[in-house]
Amino acid sequence: MYDDLDKVRADIADRFCIAASSRKSPMHSPVVVTHDADARIMILREFDCDDWTLRFHTDARSPKTAVIGDGAPMAVLFYDPEEKVQIRVRGTGRIETRSALADVAWNESSNFARRCYLGAPPGETRAEPSSGLPDWAEGIQPTDEQLVPAREHFAVLVVKVEEADWYWLSNEGHRRALIGRDTASWITP
Ligand SMILES: Cc1cc2nc3c(=O)[nH]c(=O)nc-3n(C[C@H](O)[C@H](O)[C@H](O)COP(=O)(O)O)c2cc1C
Repeated sequence: MYDDLDKVRADIADRFCIAASSRKSPMHSPVVVTHDADARIMILREFDCDDWTLRFHTDARSPKTAVIGDGAPMAVLFYDPEEKVQIRVRGTGRIETRSALADVAWNESSNFARRCYLGAPPGETRAEPSSGLPDWAEGIQPTDEQLVPAREHFAVLVVKVEEADWYWLSNEGHRRALIGRDTASWITP
């Protein structure tokens, strides 16, 4: 089935586009890895197939944003267990808080999604289990006005894909390819 590197490149782009738009996609929630040897699940919001960039949303006060800053090496790990396809992205990440892209991402978010950014910074120690949200915001969808202070806590993480290591596990013979921005090659699994 996969006998052509151009098809593999197209397969990667297709999977990322579907992953960004469908909650049901197994690649909707990849593992995002920072260079401090930490990893976490994040929701893929967009794949730009012209720029080959991945977009995620996060809290500007979360520890990972300080690690990434305005340019840092990153990996993103995707896996589809049914189709047995793994994609390991290696790239460069950057955090944007005040950019046009961050404004568009904020404006496109629902008020439920924006509510997350009303709360305390991620990682604070608490004596009791806590969502971190102020009491008044629990269980409601805040209004646009109530959400104004949350905007400064919202950030976009953009990962520029430098290389995708694509792996298909198959009884007929595993397949693996390295797809770079301007390069493509088969490698042994
Ligand atoms: C299903 C799921 C989806 C998540 N989506 C996001 C997300 O889109 N953005 C995000 O910053 N954290 C998301 N998280 C929380 C992160 O995994 C992580 O715990 C949090 O961002 C703090 O990470 P940090 O301490 O490395 O900054 C999600 C967690 C789960 C379980």
